[in-house]
Amino acid sequence: MPKGFLWGSASAAYQIEGAYNEGGKGMSNWDEFVKIPGKTYKETTGEIAVDHYHRFKEDVALMAEMGLKTYRFSISWPRVFPNGRGEVNPEGIQFYEELIDECIKYGIEPMVTLYHWDLPQALQEEYGGWESPKIIDDYVHYATYLFKRFKGKVNYWITINEQNIFTNFGWMTAMHPPGKFNQEKLFYQVNHHVFLAHAKAVVAFKEIIPDGKIGASFAYSPSYGLDCRPMNAMAKLDFDNLKNYWWLDVYAYGRYPKTAYRYLEKKGVAPTVTAEDAALLKEAASLVDFMGVNYYQTTVVEYNPMDGVTPFAEMNTSGKKGTGQVTGEPGVYKNPSNPYLETTDWDWTIDPAGLRYACKEITSRYDLPIVISENGLGAFDEKTTDNAIHDDYRIAYLNAHVYELMRAVEEGSDVWAYCTWSFTDLLSWLNGYQKRYGFVYVDRDEEGGSLDRYKKDSYYWYQEVIRTNGASIEE
Ligand code: BG6
Repeated sequence: MPKGFLWGSASAAYQIEGAYNEGGKGMSNWDEFVKIPGKTYKETTGEIAVDHYHRFKEDVALMAEMGLKTYRFSISWPRVFPNGRGEVNPEGIQFYEELIDECIKYGIEPMVTLYHWDLPQALQEEYGGWESPKIIDDYVHYATYLFKRFKGKVNYWITINEQNIFTNFGWMTAMHPPGKFNQEKLFYQVNHHVFLAHAKAVVAFKEIIPDGKIGASFAYSPSYGLDCRPMNAMAKLDFDNLKNYWWLDVYAYGRYPKTAYRYLEKKGVAPTVTAEDAALLKEAASLVDFMGVNYYQTTVVEYNPMDGVTPFAEMNTSGKKGTGQVTGEPGVYKNPSNPYLETTDWDWTIDPAGLRYACKEITSRYDLPIVISENGLGAFDEKTTDNAIHDDYRIAYLNAHVYELMRAVEEGSDVWAYCTWSFTDLLSWLNGYQKRYGFVYVDRDEEGGSLDRYKKDSYYWYQEVIRTNGASIEE
């Protein structure tokens, strides 16, 4: 990889910190949502998570020993502003200051995500959170405070994590807070508010830290058309406009894809865009430094008849292979499985070449540098009696993805960073603690555990990848 390449790992506050009611933290939407029976796997919560709040020094020391170049983590908005705005919580901000200082002490570049889904519950109750345009200024106030506070310490910032996922789960499938079902018009309006919050924060950022780097992280599932039947080719085009470019184009071009907007307008669900909004989105797009990409899998696209499948179906949250179902938009597209690819136990396709495809498409469509802000394998891991974890399947998965990423770089993509998901094991929002992603095993399950940390085989493997700057990656 090019000199100075940022080999990293990523996490999110709610999934690792725990200490949900300590240090003056306010409640988040997730603290409340997990109390609803049936919403999470075996009713798991992040109340303790993997206790990173109390063990961050141990965790950062493990990162340093591995040689990690960057650590991407998120800041919990309600830990910093318990009511969403107003007075800052000194203990909350001090925690992040210490975490950042600890990274810097070891030469690890902190990469901060401003919003990884834990919204102050106070704002949810006051005006419906993202449903109201009032959130834009509250988000910008929160972001601006952090820019000023950590200027000179944090160079890399991510405004929003996977806007496409949290809004879909929040307002379409009811699987994330606020748990609304099939509210399509609201879904697009909420997204518009998020775009404006992102855009306003980017503009503010460039005034405060002109030489810093900022972008959003998108959950990008590149699509493959099922075959060359024109109806399937058209379905792929429509899928891309509705499910990928709807977000990517706004971040990079500052505008919605026209044909998708027209389709949604006809359906009566398009968001209202004022001239002022359009100008702000354009301005921010001209200022973003990179496209953040969370890459896990690709999608197949086929035409879906009017009486075909809907966006609503059972999701595999148990790790029992084959329990996921096909979804789609009636009259437009559906996403059947890919017979050429293996899947994980949670039915996610394993497609290393898809990562190269994603990079190349972003490069040719947007010509922006790329930060791979997440990539990893969720798997059942087993700790042996001598405390080893032989996760050769994870090594194979990551090796193949990095190999393809290196090819994307060779083929012209400007990639700055590669963050695996995740460094330690952590809470999977809907899949409990049994779906593990880390290089470091955390001794806990759905019921609890000692929370002790153990290095997996993949820990040593990544250490070598970083040490050789990618030369140890096998073809
Ligand atoms: C991304 C999120 O969607 O994928 C992470 O940004 C998440 O927060 C990760 O944990 C893996 O998803 P899951 O559902 O397997 O935990």
